[in-house]
Amino acid sequence: MTTALPEIAATVTHSYGSYPIYSDWDLLDSVGSQLLELGLTGPVYIISDDRVFPLHGRRVQRSCQVSRIEAHCFIVPAGEPSKSLELSEAIYSWLAERKAERGHGVLAVGGGVVGDLAGFVSATFLRGMPLVQVPTSMAAMVDASIGGKVAVNLPHGKNLVGSFYQPRAVVADPSALVTLGKRELAEGWAEAIKAAFILDPGLLDIFEEHAEDLMALEPEVSLQVIRRSIAIKAGIVTEDERETLGRRILLNYGHTVGHALEASTGYGRYMHGEGVSVGMMAAAFISYHMGLLSEEVFHRQQRLLQRFDLPLTAPDGEPELVLQTMSMDKKTVAGSIRWVLLENVGKTAVRRDVPPELVETAVRTFVGRDATGRLS
Ligand SMILES: NC(=O)c1ccc[n+]([C@@H]2O[C@H](COP(=O)([O-])OP(=O)(O)OC[C@H]3O[C@@H](n4cnc5c(N)ncnc54)[C@H](O)[C@@H]3O)[C@@H](O)[C@H]2O)c1
Repeated sequence: MTTALPEIAATVTHSYGSYPIYSDWDLLDSVGSQLLELGLTGPVYIISDDRVFPLHGRRVQRSCQVSRIEAHCFIVPAGEPSKSLELSEAIYSWLAERKAERGHGVLAVGGGVVGDLAGFVSATFLRGMPLVQVPTSMAAMVDASIGGKVAVNLPHGKNLVGSFYQPRAVVADPSALVTLGKRELAEGWAEAIKAAFILDPGLLDIFEEHAEDLMALEPEVSLQVIRRSIAIKAGIVTEDERETLGRRILLNYGHTVGHALEASTGYGRYMHGEGVSVGMMAAAFISYHMGLLSEEVFHRQQRLLQRFDLPLTAPDGEPELVLQTMSMDKKTVAGSIRWVLLENVGKTAVRRDVPPELVETAVRTFVGRDATGRLS
């Protein structure tokens, strides 16, 4: 049994405590001993999906067994539709049948869907059970598992029912990522590239120097970038726990057009990170035309996204639908969109005064069959 405590990539401090984010290769094999360190002696309830569980969930379950922790597993179908009230209710019943108690733990082993669903269930069952996030997708590792946002979807929209509920720990093991396809890996890196552009020029240099190594998941540099990306997200959510202080919103760079693109194409055509990539290009275009950003940084972003095979334009999107969806986004306040724009690498501006004509031009430049992706 592994007993040494793994490396902490970052610590999140929140209004009622703090939690560590561990990140290292092969941590999935020592989750059991980490649970014991956290005082979670069992039983624990592993929630995973049917794609991740055979690949990685069993490893987690075995490590619990090695640590003599009773571990039960609930497997949901992989994919966004699992973030539902119906499945939450099924998990509540399953927990009730197993006589789950407030001191028992819930383990979310999977991507952001499982993290959000298991998080929502653990926040609400018995008014809260200890939650440990074990993210297995890149998006979950560097973003979704950190910060305590948990939610399920309604037919009316995504993430409409949820809460802020902080985990007791996050265990991020890059070895899980080796089973992702190339496209999935690239779209996962998109969030980390975004974070580098808005907040960490040094990280951006590493991305530029090691793009191919990162796509090949070269162990050392991948771990370094993952830890640094985790630290960025942890820092932001520590500063702005409930998204009220104007810090957390910076992470939305690229998301205004990105979300609208994903939603207006039915969440099937473009993966989240691909939407963010197109959205970053549109936001950089707006930043340039508002006189904030240099042509050089616009092209720097374009080149890096290209090296990760991320889309710069979305020919399969409908510009009108994207514009319409943007105007209905829940982050649109009193009819005006809060745009996160780029002034330089590591420097952002939040603006409500982007002229509607410029927004329309940006969307038409990056979305639709005639999209050119060009600056002018
Ligand atoms: N709570 C937050 O702060 C936050 C932030 C960003 C996104 N999210 C949410 O996260 C979700 C998106 O997360 P996601 O992109 O991880 O989606 P996901 O959980 O659907 O995972 C994508 C696919 O990859 C599979 N997968 C995950 N890990 C794998 C692995 N290691 N090997 C092989 N396959 C693997 C999953 O089974 C799924 O089929 C959305 O629902 C979004 O709303 C939440």
